[in-house]
Amino acid sequence: MSATTNSSRLTIQDIAKLYADGQRIPMLTAYDYPTARILDEAGIPILLVGDSLAEVMLGYESTVRVSMEEMLHHTKAVVRGSERAMVVADMPFLSYETPEQARENAGRFLREGGAQAVKAEGGVRSARSLEAIVRAGIPVMGHIGWTPQARHGMGGKVRVQGRTRDAAQRLLSDAIAVQDAGAFAVVLELVPAQLAAAITERLHIPTIGIGAGPGCSGQVQVVTDLLGLGSFIPRHARPYAHLRETILDAARAYASDVNAGTFPGSAESSAMDQAVLDEALGRGEMDRADAVPFPIPLDRDL
Ligand code: KIV
Repeated sequence: MSATTNSSRLTIQDIAKLYADGQRIPMLTAYDYPTARILDEAGIPILLVGDSLAEVMLGYESTVRVSMEEMLHHTKAVVRGSERAMVVADMPFLSYETPEQARENAGRFLREGGAQAVKAEGGVRSARSLEAIVRAGIPVMGHIGWTPQARHGMGGKVRVQGRTRDAAQRLLSDAIAVQDAGAFAVVLELVPAQLAAAITERLHIPTIGIGAGPGCSGQVQVVTDLLGLGSFIPRHARPYAHLRETILDAARAYASDVNAGTFPGSAESSAMDQAVLDEALGRGEMDRADAVPFPIPLDRDL
């Protein structure tokens, strides 16, 4: 993959080229500087600062709780941590209700956050906002199927979308609406595999699936699921590491070493010239009774 601009970051043109070349696109969420650095080094082309931040990093019970300021804070960290990936910032709940508000808030993610693109949920219902963002020159990614910000309106329970004839047709309309609004890609979340493949065939922008089967143009995973960091792994996720256990083991081993007095050892400590210390403590040859201006007891006072 090679960037085609002066910046070393991938652009929507690079993503379009991957898609045109038939390469599947791996995308991951990222929320912080050190993880972004590692994912960037691994060559992940798109880092999404998802509003899943709310649940997996900030401990809120739902994505609707996360604010623009919190999203911006984490977007900046991911941008600082990456050099090559395109950083996509998720527009939080109620931040793109009108075209004007959508343009203003999307602009903040680029201007203040340093992101290269934004993502917003909703198909037909969000099309006017998506269009306004694109008209402002801001690349936008759509997100249809299960849209967590609308969970209360969708019945509250996380479930696969588009299983009935009407629901499948509504999802097709949503996909077309997102594409017509000018989005450069669209996330399909919790969609039956055959329907996701059929949508993918009918669009000329990449579909990025999460719980939408292998027939999408790319896949996205929540990085904490990928790394096995959470206490619950959703059915559609595959943990490629088990960091929760690794961290538990590390923290327990550390606590046990501190308790036993075996951490730090000489390898983790530094030494000073003993003669200098002797001098400082009033043990040295140069010791002068009147030389210490602060009230730390010297050896002779102990
Ligand atoms: O916020 C998020 O993590 C997302 C992905 C699930 C696509 O929107």
